[in-house]
Order: sequence, then structure tokens, then C-alpha cells
Amino acid sequence: MSETVRFGVSIDSRLLEKFDQLIASKGYGSRSEALRDLIRDELVDLEWKEGAPEGVATITLVYSHEARELTDKLTELQHRMQGLIISTLHIHLDAHNCLEVLVVRGRTGDIKRAADQLISTKGVKHGKLTMATTGRELT
Ligand code: NI
Repeated sequence: MSETVRFGVSIDSRLLEKFDQLIASKGYGSRSEALRDLIRDELVDLEWKEGAPEGVATITLVYSHEARELTDKLTELQHRMQGLIISTLHIHLDAHNCLEVLVVRGRTGDIKRAADQLISTKGVKHGKLTMATTGRELT
């Protein structure tokens, strides 16, 4: 484990006031933890921008199961992505709508392509790729 370092930050008082309001509304107990999370978020973004060899993410899809062709298409696509998809959660939201969350792990480029394919499928009402991290490079 690496050592903890303390450092001072020069910041405009109004900006700091806004930062304090922001982190209070999010429930942070200290500026330090909020700052660490902001830094980690940026590092995770960078992992994805630089095409890290391995990424972890979730792909969320909302669609109507009544569109038979759409359900078949999504199933077919997911079968072709079986090396990438670790787990799938399917919730029947109401009589018509389904929510699916896919947990994926693999090359970041492959994950982005898979998400684009699924989300752009005609009839998908909502789709979102949430890029996470394996956590190995973060403390
Ligand atoms: Ni369903």
C-alpha cells in the first residue's frame, strides 16, 4: 500500500463554496474523499479513452418485449457476444416493457462496439453504457 500525502490547494473562495455545497448534497463527509473520487473518475475515463486492454462495464437496455423481431435480434446479438457478457439481469417492468442490464468484461474497444450495436438496435427505447473499472490501477 502506498503512503498518504497531504497537500494544500489554492482555490477561489466562491468555487470552494460551490464545491462544498456540491459534495454536501452528495453526502461526502470530507473534501478529501470527494477529491479522491473525482480523481478516480477521471482516471477511469482515461482508461477508456486510451483503450485499456481490459475494461468492465454495464449496458442498460429498455425495450418492449412485444416487438418480437427486436427480442430475437437482441438475443441473437447477445449470443454472438458471449465471450464479453458475464451476466445478464432481466426485469419485467410492466406488461410491455423490459429492463436488461448486461455486465460485460473485455477489451474496451470490443465493449464499446457491443454497446453501440445493442443500443442502436431499432426499437430499443433507452440504452446506456456505464464504463467502470477492474479497479486494479486504482487505490
Ligand atoms: Ni421482460
